[in-house]
Amino acid sequence: MMRRWLGMKLQNRRVLLIIGGGIAVYKVLELIRRLRDEGARVRCVMTAAAAEFVTPLSVATLSADRVFTNLFDRDDEHDVGHIRLSREADLIVVAPATADLMAKAATGAANDLASAVLLASDKPVLMAPAMNPRMWSAAPTRRNHATLLADGVQFVGPKSGAMAEAGENGEGRMAEPAEILAAIIAQLAPAGPLTGRSFIVTSGPTHEPIDPVRYIANRSSGKQGHAIAAALAKLGAEVRLISGPVTIADPSGVKTTHVQTAREMLTAVEAALPADGAVFVAAVADWRVDSVATDKIKKQPGAGTVPSLAMVENPDILATVGHHAQRPKIVVGFAAETRDVVANGEAKLKRKGADLIVANDVSAEGGAMGGDRNRVTLLSAEGAEAWPEMDKLEVAERLAQVIAARLNGGPTRA
Ligand SMILES: Cc1cc2nc3c(=O)[nH]c(=O)nc-3n(C[C@H](O)[C@H](O)[C@H](O)COP(=O)(O)O)c2cc1C
Repeated sequence: MMRRWLGMKLQNRRVLLIIGGGIAVYKVLELIRRLRDEGARVRCVMTAAAAEFVTPLSVATLSADRVFTNLFDRDDEHDVGHIRLSREADLIVVAPATADLMAKAATGAANDLASAVLLASDKPVLMAPAMNPRMWSAAPTRRNHATLLADGVQFVGPKSGAMAEAGENGEGRMAEPAEILAAIIAQLAPAGPLTGRSFIVTSGPTHEPIDPVRYIANRSSGKQGHAIAAALAKLGAEVRLISGPVTIADPSGVKTTHVQTAREMLTAVEAALPADGAVFVAAVADWRVDSVATDKIKKQPGAGTVPSLAMVENPDILATVGHHAQRPKIVVGFAAETRDVVANGEAKLKRKGADLIVANDVSAEGGAMGGDRNRVTLLSAEGAEAWPEMDKLEVAERLAQVIAARLNGGPTRA
């Protein structure tokens, strides 16, 4: 299957790259480029020694961001920059990890920005050591390596081979950029039951304009749809999320397209086809105003004149894709119902060409719209399965498992 929008395994993943002062720094420039090719956002910290080998300008240009070098930077430290740098990362990569940086990290030294970030971080750390073979085999480095492993630090390399210094050979070469990239992908986008599968997920409400300042909307928050996109990505899927206007953040590991109206959402969904699966969670407006006023509709002076809005039906995205020439292998729809949840959901299953309908009670008592919890019933050709009320994140994870099992030919029940 052709995958135009796929192949970026680190979409929106945030890598904080700490660059130590070793001759292998030149290879790190290549690593930055490859990380960005995979869709990662790369932010770099350079030690003072690293800046002796390549200029911060090169690193800034390749990472398309400023480079952080100074623990006592007046502009950054007003909001405790060394803490923020770690907080805003999904993974910290140290490359090249010098003998010195390993020693600092192993002992908890924090006398420059790189070491302070490492000590102040609770994020996973991946180190790519690079040093002379005698430095690598030296007793202090052995101890530091063992300590860091025990602390949960991951390592890629070093490798054996010729060193940059003439005549030096042995273990201590930094792993090649491709290998470091593979280790980063393994850490941030681990293979799962949906690896190699592509998904389209819609989420949030749509806004249907009345005039330039007014629109028709609904109470959907996007929490459930965004959680499903993230849960599918966590199982290895490459996910295109098409989101209506929401106030929550784009999930990491997912490529997000923002739209306003039902028609824009349909266009974005069709542009994302073909895909292996589609999950339509968005609360798409059923109707829109027939003709949108180009100017703000003015209140008429005097009593009695109120505008009346002529409405037309919006396209049905689930039904369109459920009967599409490029129909994904699995099509899942959400049915937001306030009464007869199961009966209405079953009717929708047939009419819309869906494999699964997730019926949820959005009545005031059900509270699913906008809230954090959801009580759903899963409907398929095999029947109805009521799930207990749970957090939307849990609904997302269970649903992603069901979808993976169906796609992979396993059991179809949760
Ligand atoms: C030419 C040259 C090459 C160096 N290469 C390395 C190296 O590959 N690995 C290493 O651990 N140290 C290397 N060093 C020593 C480090 O630059 C030195 O320990 C420095 O203090 C490390 O600082 P940092 O850990 O803050 O980056 C090299 C030094 C020089 C002058």
